[in-house]
Amino acid sequence: MIRCDQTVAWTALQGHFEGHGRELDLREAFARDPARFEAFALQAPEVFADLSKNLWDLATRKLLLELARECALEDRRDAMFAGAPINTTEGRAVLHTALRAPRGFGPFSHEVHGVLDALLNYAEGIRDTTASGIRDVVNIGIGGSDLGPQMVVPALDAFAHPGLRFHFVSNVDGHDITPVLRKLKPAETLFIIASKTFTTQETMANAAVAREWFLAQGMAEADIARHFVGATTNLNAATAFGIHTTFGFWDWVGGRYSLWSAIGLPIALAVGSDHFRALLAGAHAMDRHFATAPLEANLPVQLGLLDVWYRNFHRFTSRSVAPYHQGLKRLPAYLQQLEMESNGKCVDFDGQPLTFGTSPVVWGEPGTNGQHAYFQMLHQGTDVIPVEFIAVKHPTHAHADLHAKALANCLAQAQALMRGKTTEAAAAEKAPTASPTLDARTVARHRSFPGNRPSSMLLLDQLNPRSLGALIAMYEHRVFTSGAVWGINSFDQWGVELGKALASDLLPRLVPGDQHGATTGLDASTAGLLRRLTA
Ligand code: F6P
Repeated sequence: MIRCDQTVAWTALQGHFEGHGRELDLREAFARDPARFEAFALQAPEVFADLSKNLWDLATRKLLLELARECALEDRRDAMFAGAPINTTEGRAVLHTALRAPRGFGPFSHEVHGVLDALLNYAEGIRDTTASGIRDVVNIGIGGSDLGPQMVVPALDAFAHPGLRFHFVSNVDGHDITPVLRKLKPAETLFIIASKTFTTQETMANAAVAREWFLAQGMAEADIARHFVGATTNLNAATAFGIHTTFGFWDWVGGRYSLWSAIGLPIALAVGSDHFRALLAGAHAMDRHFATAPLEANLPVQLGLLDVWYRNFHRFTSRSVAPYHQGLKRLPAYLQQLEMESNGKCVDFDGQPLTFGTSPVVWGEPGTNGQHAYFQMLHQGTDVIPVEFIAVKHPTHAHADLHAKALANCLAQAQALMRGKTTEAAAAEKAPTASPTLDARTVARHRSFPGNRPSSMLLLDQLNPRSLGALIAMYEHRVFTSGAVWGINSFDQWGVELGKALASDLLPRLVPGDQHGATTGLDASTAGLLRRLTA
């Protein structure tokens, strides 16, 4: 496999960046080319993208597409869909796409649809709250066994069962589960223990606390069967915990790609079978787009290539995500795991060190809240940070005036980032809050904006199960694209192991009163902190 930095296209991109790319001015580019919006507009299933306010031109895009071809992106993509073991360090296939393929299509269809049918049937039983008696659902899981459902359930609030409340407990810090348990009645609560491995320290510890609390409230061991359900690939461990109802999945589903599997049970409980199937169908439509659209018209491919352009040529280190829909408030957190756990790697497929940057930092908050917090830095800070706006045409609420304000703000922010404001323009304005004792030129310099700051705009018609499924799958394939170009394994996560092992070593040293040898072998900082915590 050829490494991206050894390709002809990479060298050409470097030359192009030095010659034109670095200096590209968006305002001039729009003035030069009245068709720029159309040239960089892309319609994928459920998602329209305006990529014209990015720091690239047609030549950049052409070279990036050549880079993708030289890096055999299409072969790698096809290998993923076909079930080849592309997660080489774990010897596993990567088949989350099979989870949303229609019945009879794709690998493992029989197994996938067997579990899906059973899961949805179970979910409908619980959603009959008169019969089930369930009012509160507590998902206990972390990482991929938490972030997907935790993001999707509020996003689809308009479609959710009005009589069920959802709680997500992930952190091993007891301040997470304690206030949740305080609100619950055991006879009306369903605990979902969600863990691919069923060994994760945080999840097992919280599950044990939940069971202890449940029994301490006067419930019997026999009641656990009705009030605890598992979602895992490790059915034996779930049974050993005392769980009788378990929905399985497979090792070819990565944790951060698992919301489509049994890990999606909270989503199915919230929105029901039809909407859950629509979520899968939306993702499948995006899968087909990614698998079949020419690279020139392929949205995840173009977004992934733009990430490469920004990270490796402009050397931008982060990307901000601003969904102008409150339902998507957890999307940035979800994307942090999806992108940074997938592509935060420093060696290639062969374990050789990389000489170029990989995953950017992904961060953000819903608009308009972010505008009143960190947008100052996006507009006038010293670093250029590409912003990804997500706007939704039709709201699922009845307040048209609020919606218009949200949309106006979203468009205005993208406009302001690009346009900027010259010192002359600032000087010509009245600034009522500016100090009258400061000279006008100085005030104008503080009030000017450099502009030419890039952004993408993703547009959905409505945030519904189908469009959300497509949007998430779009992000998955975008991460695949940049990972494939960088030549890294986007599907392992060895980087989380060291901290876990060290925590196991430190845990016994934190036992109060037992200080014998507590700090032996530790660095002075960790030892000093441990002494303070145990004194
Ligand atoms: O943080 C590492 C990780 O393995 C994630 O990849 C995964 O989503 C999370 O832990 C939870 O793992 P599990 O579902 O096995 O409890």
